[in-house]
Amino acid sequence: MAVFPLCLALLSQIVPGALSSPSAETLASRGSPEFFSPPYYPAPKGGWLSDWASAYKKAHDVVSKMTLAEKVNLTSGTGELMGRCAGQTGSALRLGIPSLCLHDSPLGIHNTDQNTAFPAGITVGATFDKDLMYERGVALGEEARGKGINVLLGPSVNPMGRKPRGGRNWESFGADPTLQAFGGAMTIKGMQSTGAIASLKHVVGNEQEMHRMSTVITQGYSSNIDDRTLHELYLWPFAEGIRAGVGSVMMAYNDVNRSTCSQNSKLINGILKDELGFQGFVMTDWLAQIGGVSSALAGLDMSMPGDGPIPLLGTAYWSWELSRAVLNGSVPVDRLNDMVTRIVATWYKMGQDKDYPRPNFSGTTLEKTGLLYPGALISPIGIVNEFVNVQGNHNITARAVARDAITLLKNEENILPLKRNDSLKIFGTDAGANPAGLNACPDNGCNQGVLTMGWGSGTCRLPYLVTPQEAIANISSNAEFYITDLFPIGVSGGPEDIAVVFINSDSGEHMLLVDGNPGDRALAGLYSWHNGDDLVKSAAAMFSKVVVVVHTVGPILMEEWIDLEPVKAVLVAHLPGQEAGWSLTDILFGDYSPSGHLPYTIPRRESDYPESVHLIPLSLGQIQDNYDEGLYIDYRHFLKANITPRYPFGHGLSYTTFNFSEPRLSVVKPLDTAYPAARPPKGSTPTYPDTKPAPSEVAWPKNFNRIWRYLYPYLDNPADASANSTEKYPYPDGYATEPKPAPRAGGAEGGNPALWDVAFSVQVKVTNTGSRDGRAVAQLYVELPASLGLDTPSRQLRQFEKTKILSAGQSEVLTLDVTRKDLSVWDVVVQDWKTPVHGEGIKIWVGESVADMRVGCTVGEGCAVLH
Ligand code: BGC
Repeated sequence: MAVFPLCLALLSQIVPGALSSPSAETLASRGSPEFFSPPYYPAPKGGWLSDWASAYKKAHDVVSKMTLAEKVNLTSGTGELMGRCAGQTGSALRLGIPSLCLHDSPLGIHNTDQNTAFPAGITVGATFDKDLMYERGVALGEEARGKGINVLLGPSVNPMGRKPRGGRNWESFGADPTLQAFGGAMTIKGMQSTGAIASLKHVVGNEQEMHRMSTVITQGYSSNIDDRTLHELYLWPFAEGIRAGVGSVMMAYNDVNRSTCSQNSKLINGILKDELGFQGFVMTDWLAQIGGVSSALAGLDMSMPGDGPIPLLGTAYWSWELSRAVLNGSVPVDRLNDMVTRIVATWYKMGQDKDYPRPNFSGTTLEKTGLLYPGALISPIGIVNEFVNVQGNHNITARAVARDAITLLKNEENILPLKRNDSLKIFGTDAGANPAGLNACPDNGCNQGVLTMGWGSGTCRLPYLVTPQEAIANISSNAEFYITDLFPIGVSGGPEDIAVVFINSDSGEHMLLVDGNPGDRALAGLYSWHNGDDLVKSAAAMFSKVVVVVHTVGPILMEEWIDLEPVKAVLVAHLPGQEAGWSLTDILFGDYSPSGHLPYTIPRRESDYPESVHLIPLSLGQIQDNYDEGLYIDYRHFLKANITPRYPFGHGLSYTTFNFSEPRLSVVKPLDTAYPAARPPKGSTPTYPDTKPAPSEVAWPKNFNRIWRYLYPYLDNPADASANSTEKYPYPDGYATEPKPAPRAGGAEGGNPALWDVAFSVQVKVTNTGSRDGRAVAQLYVELPASLGLDTPSRQLRQFEKTKILSAGQSEVLTLDVTRKDLSVWDVVVQDWKTPVHGEGIKIWVGESVADMRVGCTVGEGCAVLH
């Protein structure tokens, strides 16, 4: 939930969408200061896909019977802190539709009890394990359902990690669109298999926390992204999430191409609903709405948490204002019908009409009783927490994800795994507990003890925590602990001693300042916190064998110590959640071999990144964040600039070794044409009579007991609103009521289904050639030929598979499928995906990291083992 500056009124005057059509030249250009977002109206209706037909049919039956008040109720939040959840809609109880509870977070149920604190998204990305991604999604969905949450606010696939210092990169899955896409899609499938609705967030360009949001005093930044970069990088995981059937999508706070995301008609109407065929509903981020009619026309379906420019004052852009706008004709009735039909259809699609629990927890208190409407002037008190335990056996999944994410960067002299009787000296507060107590800092807004997650709305309370200290003490017969970040005086090591040094780096959401960092790592930079570098160096000065364990939100700089002779091993344990200790000792003491891989690049110095991905400070006027680097973020940039990083994307060692052999490339569906087959036509959508509702439908019900500040759909004098239609709403330039021709790149959820035709399949045999059990990851990168006439990254991850646990000598044949879309570029002129005909000139690489290719295949020629 957003924490906002004192007066948060939004700049409602900002034009919705930009105001002239782009020329092909403009679309093709990159780095132009003239970024703008073209208008796209009207909002495409939902319900034209057969998969959703029965849910839309049920929704149509119910919505046909709704009054205007009931329709408005379901689209509008009831206000900040007006219920148990981060946000809730009104209801249509007469027709069996309850108020919907929307609540965080992507890693566990926020601010409650008896939940599981799962590893964060970045940790999940590091597993490169689709099954674990799915399993964690199921567990999250079960916990959401168990607590009565209708819409769980995750997963997050934006930020992508474009800015290494960006505060919320850790909530998502890594600095690559394919990794984000699999992370997001598998999580969604898992979550929604339980009936919970997932909310894929944040569309799009929220890569920096500072200045993300518009208020009365500031304007949020504009992420200026050219069309090709938008499609090939930032929309990619959203397309896959929509293809996975996600029920809702959350818009970002910031502007994209100078149009605020919550009312950016190009993004919502044009891309999400038309091109990507999204059938669910689109909501705002919290308090991100800046206009009423404008956002409805631009395709927004739900306002959250419902407040107007200044929260908690009882004002709204929708609620009764939406009733008024429909009655006076500013918002077409069929737009409102589509909004509510999308919401109700999604509710049916997930089966929430059948015994879905009601909220039984409170997001604001752990007490049994409390204010029913904490944001109200005067609120009734009642039972708000029923203490429902939703943990099941999810600790097993949480531990498996945390363990299989642990990434071994270096292991000289095979110092790892440790033996149970090794003489260990453990250093660093990151090995221990928060001295102030478990969950002592709201929203995890401090960095004390082992870092299990970042801070902000993307967190949850830890039901318990197994610290590394506890887990090591439980296993080792010979460990001494120095839970301090200052190297203790008088400690030195004998030749047999091994120092294990814990360091970390934290970041979070721009709602709390932690050690001077406003969400983004503005002050800490990419250095470890609490003088972690000094701690490692001091240990290296005293011990001949040092193992470094890093808990981190993203890349950190290691140059001060990584090459020191005593630093033998480095493990990145990412953000492990409640099972921090057990997952680590599983690896440290060799019960399992590490099998995680870096979901981002670790650089040698920050200046190795493109200039354009640095944090942008406040400036006069709106911050223009130009995505000048285009497609070249993270490893794509390092390859292009020919910079050798400290550790490449995808890197991760094991206690064993793997051999890749017998590669085979087979053609599955030949790429006979440059563009995919024509899209299927749109099916029909529900229709309703176009008559304006009777004003009496939004009159206050008789003897109604109002909660002051609660946001209702009712008007004092509804007849006036209806009569007063002489004043015309100033529709944005480009506003149209005639539907646009269906975009050729669309056709189903995610886009034209032909894009997912498997073009090639690569098989490779992976053999464990070492002496211990272990799991390997095969990462498939594509290299597109210059004949496409476009500058394209020399390697792009497009697929990955992980073996089961292979014992010494054991093999497994992995199959990696590559789709037409995987081999395409976005043609900005034709507005479609284009691939080299017959795949001519395409190279496909399979390796253990982006810098360690084991197999190379050229389409039409075959494959070779590289080493
Ligand atoms: C965050 C969202 C979150 C919402 C509700 C916002 O501040 O950006 O990710 O879901 O609050 O808590």
